[in-house]
Amino acid sequence: MDMTETLIRKAEKKDLLTIQKLLSTYFLDMEELEAEDFILAEKDGKVIGCAALIKRRGNETDFQEIHSIAVHPNFRGKGIGRELVEHLIKNDPEPALELYVRTTAPGFFEKLGFEKLPDPEKLRLWEDCKKCEHFGKCAQQALKFSCRCKGEVKQP
Ligand SMILES: CC(C)(COP(=O)(O)OP(=O)(O)OC[C@H]1O[C@@H](n2cnc3c(N)ncnc32)[C@H](O)[C@@H]1OP(=O)(O)O)[C@@H](O)C(=O)NCCC(=O)NCCS
Repeated sequence: MDMTETLIRKAEKKDLLTIQKLLSTYFLDMEELEAEDFILAEKDGKVIGCAALIKRRGNETDFQEIHSIAVHPNFRGKGIGRELVEHLIKNDPEPALELYVRTTAPGFFEKLGFEKLPDPEKLRLWEDCKKCEHFGKCAQQALKFSCRCKGEVKQP
């Protein structure tokens, strides 16, 4: 039986390489983010998951975006991803702003109460999508968190 708890903590500068290594498992990178933008899931002193919440300046309004979420391959499907997203939402410094995500795992986010967005909405929100030559064949689905009024993630 699994006796040890998963700890969620803020990342520090010293976690940079660990985060990069975890993300590289899935060919993800940090892009413009810094280590301090991330939260980490830790078990027995080992980092097994990471995720970030960033503020975006949209064309019309600012919004929040969940970015760079990854769970170590040996620990997927055990609720770690859910814990990370729940933590980000509970501790969102700007809960009045809408919360979005662009992801190749839309099914995971739908389970947590996100809803798929149509392409025109994706273009309206993300300047980089507008400029992107791959837009029509992009693997990333945009979703919006729709449970904000309840202040919490949808439970299974
Ligand atoms: C996507 C990811 C972060 C999810 O984390 P996880 O710890 O494996 O997910 P959880 O165990 O918390 O799953 C929560 C629920 O979502 C479901 N789920 C998980 N991944 C899913 C997926 N890819 N598609 C559909 N549903 C998924 C789980 O079955 C679970 O459902 P339940 O509540 O009915 O039991 C993780 O699998 C991962 O790192 N994937 C590879 C990297 C990646 O795709 N990152 C996203 C790129 S933006």
